[in-house]
Amino acid sequence: MSCTDSDRTDIILPPENEPDRQFYYMDRVRELAADIARAEGRKLTYHIQTFGCQMNARDSEKLAGILERIGYERTDTEESDFVIYNTCSVRENANNRVYGRLGKLSNYKKANPSMMIAMCGCMMQEPDEIEKIRKTYRFVDIVFGTHNIYKLAELMYERMRSGETVIDIWEETDRIVEDIPNSRKYSFKSGVNIMFGCNNFCSYCIVPYVRGRERSREPKDIIREIERMVADGVKEVMLLGQNVNSYGKTLENPVSFAELLRGISQIDGLERIRFMTPHPKDLSDELIETMAEIPKICRHIHLPLQSGSSRILKAMNRHYTKESYLPDVSITTDIIVGFPGETEEDFEDTLDVVRKAEFDSAFTFIYSPRVGTPAASMPDRIPDEVTKRRFDGLLSAVSEGAKKRCGLDVGKTLPVLVEEINAQDKSLVTGRLSNNTLVHFEGGESLIGQIVNVRLTQSKGFYYIGEADKTTDKEVM
Ligand code: 5AD
Ligand code: SF4
Repeated sequence: MSCTDSDRTDIILPPENEPDRQFYYMDRVRELAADIARAEGRKLTYHIQTFGCQMNARDSEKLAGILERIGYERTDTEESDFVIYNTCSVRENANNRVYGRLGKLSNYKKANPSMMIAMCGCMMQEPDEIEKIRKTYRFVDIVFGTHNIYKLAELMYERMRSGETVIDIWEETDRIVEDIPNSRKYSFKSGVNIMFGCNNFCSYCIVPYVRGRERSREPKDIIREIERMVADGVKEVMLLGQNVNSYGKTLENPVSFAELLRGISQIDGLERIRFMTPHPKDLSDELIETMAEIPKICRHIHLPLQSGSSRILKAMNRHYTKESYLPDVSITTDIIVGFPGETEEDFEDTLDVVRKAEFDSAFTFIYSPRVGTPAASMPDRIPDEVTKRRFDGLLSAVSEGAKKRCGLDVGKTLPVLVEEINAQDKSLVTGRLSNNTLVHFEGGESLIGQIVNVRLTQSKGFYYIGEADKTTDKEVM
């Protein structure tokens, strides 16, 4: 699609400073989009498809905020006027899934000439993928990466003015642009970026290459953002970073993650604080003590193990051992099976940690070689059938441990933040305990976003069935 606004003269030049510059472009694109909407006789719609982790989910909320300010309305279907794929490249099959879907989009575009297609996120930071899009998916209108999400309006403006594909990928950045609009998926909870990038270079991981070096936001900017969210109805925040334990180390006035948590916990009206992801190698006593001191910090740590074998952990460049990992709190984790060179004995070590730790839950992954990472050229690839068998063994060990843990709170009355109507049974609502376990209980729409005291009557392995407790009106932690 192409259009011009040559009948308008831009008397004001775009400001140099951010975020003013982006607000200027949001206004310009808003005018252009309004012209299209008028010509079509309908409102313009957008759809964002998010792949991957919570960081991407948060980035998508920022993209949505910009598009809504420009005047697009959200839809659930890809048959819309502006479609963005926010991509993930942690594992190879994620990349393939994206291309499968992209093919379908071109048909929608043929039927709707005002449609634009944008691709962003981690996959776009890989030069081979950009080449592939340039060559094979020429109907894509805008391509940008992980460092310039905030520039969406400016890129749309360029696309609309020039009629040409716009590709804007930055290899690195040291800038963090604050105060761009965003549109939250849930009214009552939100992710908050506290840092970007990663310096750890685990040998299997593509993240440091696609998200760049570690950069922390200033505590005052984070606190100001959360204060605004709370004024807008948010009760729970999830602080996001690839390794939150190293938060603040690179700031001009260094601050520890525990200090940041203390600052955030003082925000009136904020009821729950979660964070992900800490790295086991730098889980500090200060952090554990702060969690113990402050009830607002949820009783949940997601602590990725990756492997239970100290030998494989060394090859993964994780900087901890089997023995030093096992802590004395309940945790959830990530585990990879089939890392190059993983022997039966190594795998047994992983099972051993899973059995001892009795994780409340675990995300389990089959190792996927990512070109450009050190592990991709390591010898001794594990055959698929071996990996598959180990993967199944791991799943059953995880679910046995989870069953034991989830039973522990039966009979207790605990506060639950209600998230949604249960998808299977509309007479139930679904929410989470402080320790992140799901609870289903009888209730309706009006409870969504409320913290309700629920008596946990039954454990179902990974989740509880409960009853709203009508006798207590005070929170029991
Ligand atoms: N192969 C398989 N799993 C991976 N992860 C990261 N990189 C890879 C890879 N190359 C998993 C890790 C990480 C989670 C987000 O994804 O377990 O913690
Ligand atoms: Fe990847 Fe390791 Fe950084 Fe996590 S800590 S993002 S696994 S390099």
